[in-house]
Amino acid sequence: MRTQVGIVGAGPAGLLLSHLLHLAGIESVVLEARNRAYVEQRVRAGVLEHPTAELLREVGVGERMTREGLPHEGLVLRFDGADHRMPLAELTGKTITVYGQQEVVKDLIARRLADGGRILFESTDVCLHDLTTDRPRITFVDAEGKVRQLDCDVIAGCDGFHGVSRPSIPADKLRVFQRTYPFAWLGILARTPPSHEELIYTYSERGFALHSMRSPELTRLYIQVSPEEQLADWPDERIWDELHARLRLGNGFSLHEGPVVDKLLAAMRSFVVEPMRYGRLFLAGDAAHIVPPTGAKGMNLAVADVRLLARALTELLTKANADLADAYSESCLRRVWRAEHFSWWMTSMLHRFPEDDPFAQRLQLSQLRYTTSSTAAATSMAENYVGLPFD
Ligand code: APR
Ligand code: PHB
Repeated sequence: MRTQVGIVGAGPAGLLLSHLLHLAGIESVVLEARNRAYVEQRVRAGVLEHPTAELLREVGVGERMTREGLPHEGLVLRFDGADHRMPLAELTGKTITVYGQQEVVKDLIARRLADGGRILFESTDVCLHDLTTDRPRITFVDAEGKVRQLDCDVIAGCDGFHGVSRPSIPADKLRVFQRTYPFAWLGILARTPPSHEELIYTYSERGFALHSMRSPELTRLYIQVSPEEQLADWPDERIWDELHARLRLGNGFSLHEGPVVDKLLAAMRSFVVEPMRYGRLFLAGDAAHIVPPTGAKGMNLAVADVRLLARALTELLTKANADLADAYSESCLRRVWRAEHFSWWMTSMLHRFPEDDPFAQRLQLSQLRYTTSSTAAATSMAENYVGLPFD
């Protein structure tokens, strides 16, 4: 088999890249380890930045998002026993859209298949070869168990944090930057209407809690827990008790309970590799960088990466012009590091750290009060949250 761009991974990065390349007249094949139902049902992030939503609309995959996504003009920081609203739209003129990552994935798969795109689900044992030549190859085992080879001009590693692409690069060619946090998130999806129309990020003595949603009938909730916790130790009742305790407010906020339809534990990590390229292998999305979920940046960074990568590969493959490809890593990393800082900052301000003393906690409270009372500070948070312009 032969194609111009071999894409490993059918997450938001791989699928959107394949679509953008198709619009530019470039052929690609997407190799995905899981089956279609699995990737379409995997519950992940849910907040689209303004530039992400605009891009999806511009490239013709935003129709259902515009219909079913929930536009939000603000969010709430809950601390000091009160709600402090961050008026995102007033401060920036922009909104965010609450729309599940798996819905974006469904829309992209449907569109690729309608356009004749090739997505090979259940492709296993993916191995990358000859990355420093201009004929890189991918070998894999297809859904029928047959060993196959995909000859490419370029390979895009869009296979997430645990994929094969990044480890295919010799370790001495990459510089790794990382932080792990002394807590994890325990998240649930509950079949119940949201208890508030906006997201609520809560700083409490018992630790961080987040109230979010997916639709008028589905609530998404998270609590900070120790990284050693096991899901088995968290029956639904214990999770609801902890959520009630952390989200409690004097003025009668009441949290709606409902059947729990998904439950997960997520490690909290910041991670970046530089450069995001090795020869003819280009990394995009979680394959190259991870942010803790507090700033809701993961999927948005993946989208920003492939927007640049599609342009770079179009120039490279249609005009033999390597300028954008050579600039790809550096251009991406500017936005990546802004999001890394923002996510680290939100995480540091809102969580309880086991080693924190009362001094550190007073600093967190001071930062929260400043962020919600100064227009300058609020605007800084808001413009990062809604997403800085792409260019
Ligand atoms: N071979 C083929 N496919 C693979 C392999 C492999 N060895 N390893 C992983 N994959 C697939 C995964 O099954 C997944 O579908 O690659 C895809 C990677 O998708 P994501 O993890 O969604 O990564 P990305 O597209 O970069 O999107 C980033 O995902 O984890 C969230 O918070 C993150 O929202 C962010 C977004
Ligand atoms: C979510 O709805 O899943 C969500 C929202 C905001 C975040 C993280 C996750 O910061």
